[in-house]
Amino acid sequence: MADRKLHFETLQIHGGYHVDASQSRGIAIHPTAAYHFPTCDYAANLFTLSEAGYIYTRLHNPTTAAYEERIAALYGGVGALATASGMSAILLTVTSLANAGQNIVASPYLYGGTHNQFVISLRNVGIECRLAKSDSPEDMAALVDENTRALFVESMGNPTCRVADIEALAKVAHESNVPLIVDNTFGAGGYLCNPFEWGADIITDSATKWINGHGTAMGGIIVDGGTFNWGCGKYPSIDGPSEGYHGLNLYEAFGSQAFIVKCRVDGMRDFGCCPSPFDAYLMLLGLETLSLRVKHEVESAYKLAEFCRNHPKVERVSFVGFEDHPSHALAKKYFKFGASAVLTIELKGTLESTIKFVESLKLSGNMTMIGDSISVVTHPASTTHKQLSDEAKRAAGITPTLLRVSLGLENVEDIIADYEQALANL
Ligand SMILES: Cc1ncc(COP(=O)(O)O)c(C=O)c1O
Repeated sequence: MADRKLHFETLQIHGGYHVDASQSRGIAIHPTAAYHFPTCDYAANLFTLSEAGYIYTRLHNPTTAAYEERIAALYGGVGALATASGMSAILLTVTSLANAGQNIVASPYLYGGTHNQFVISLRNVGIECRLAKSDSPEDMAALVDENTRALFVESMGNPTCRVADIEALAKVAHESNVPLIVDNTFGAGGYLCNPFEWGADIITDSATKWINGHGTAMGGIIVDGGTFNWGCGKYPSIDGPSEGYHGLNLYEAFGSQAFIVKCRVDGMRDFGCCPSPFDAYLMLLGLETLSLRVKHEVESAYKLAEFCRNHPKVERVSFVGFEDHPSHALAKKYFKFGASAVLTIELKGTLESTIKFVESLKLSGNMTMIGDSISVVTHPASTTHKQLSDEAKRAAGITPTLLRVSLGLENVEDIIADYEQALANL
């Protein structure tokens, strides 16, 4: 039994759980900022990283540690770091790899917030984010040079649902001795898609979405696959004397976990974007039902997409589970059930009639959210992607009448009936 690999559904409940002195089966919330040091010698060992233990909740907390361990188990990674949001997970990941004067190469099919972090905020601190013409291996490879420190893609792009060819992109990254980072938010905590199985080295995930699953907390997660060779000479802050730890070499000290340790002891220590223990608890609770929720939501997505496809007032349905979606074949390869719970629709008509439709829906939240228990409809052009230039919107596939739909946990027949009445209204 001990050596038998547990299934996802089992790990989402048992991962990260250890019986403590209280024997309680629930994982305790530890609402503490700091931890008692029994001796000053012990404290000094913690501060030089020569002993493991709790110092301060910005760096680690027992509730958050259980959550990180569960996530690492679900993804099969060597370690995970929980952050306060998906955006901060990406920020810590990129700044742990690239310094001012260096660059990362990214797919152009990105969530709007990630796009802005890359092309405005990181550029302003000297890290160049090169957006490729497309996410094809050729277009991504064309932008790599000696200063490139990572490749970055979303496993399934938000909101176009374009699927990245993770296996091919991992090859491009490794030929250049850089890691492939995959934002796997749409992969739902690894249940629908696990990029480590296809050669990715680092995963980020907006836990705000499917991992939490109920829209009750913000969170992000970084997972280290433990496979990248940090000794390749390009990462002196990982394999080299650490400025923040008296010359300690993290790669020598922590081996395959060196990257996730670096994210915690440098990135989290210095940028401070830690989750609260209560939010970590909410993520643990969400994880316990992840597979059940996501399966229901994807099944509902297939049914709603089919209904919309046959409705005379709908111009276009873009659902990656349908054969006419450009990423259908890749979705079948990389995603369980060949889809996610997200689709986009374009109604016949104008911007105004699209807005009228959204405002007529009674059961779907008009929100910027995906992966929630409530079904959601979002108008990307006026919300998530509003800050993008017209050209960038076009490149990301955002038109004025496009709607992003994320299926929730309701009975889909009620959702379809609601769409029917809102369309009849137009
Ligand atoms: C693909 C993707 N990555 C990252 C983020 C950012 O995550 P958060 O909102 O938790 O900061 C989002 C948010 O929608 C997203 O869709």
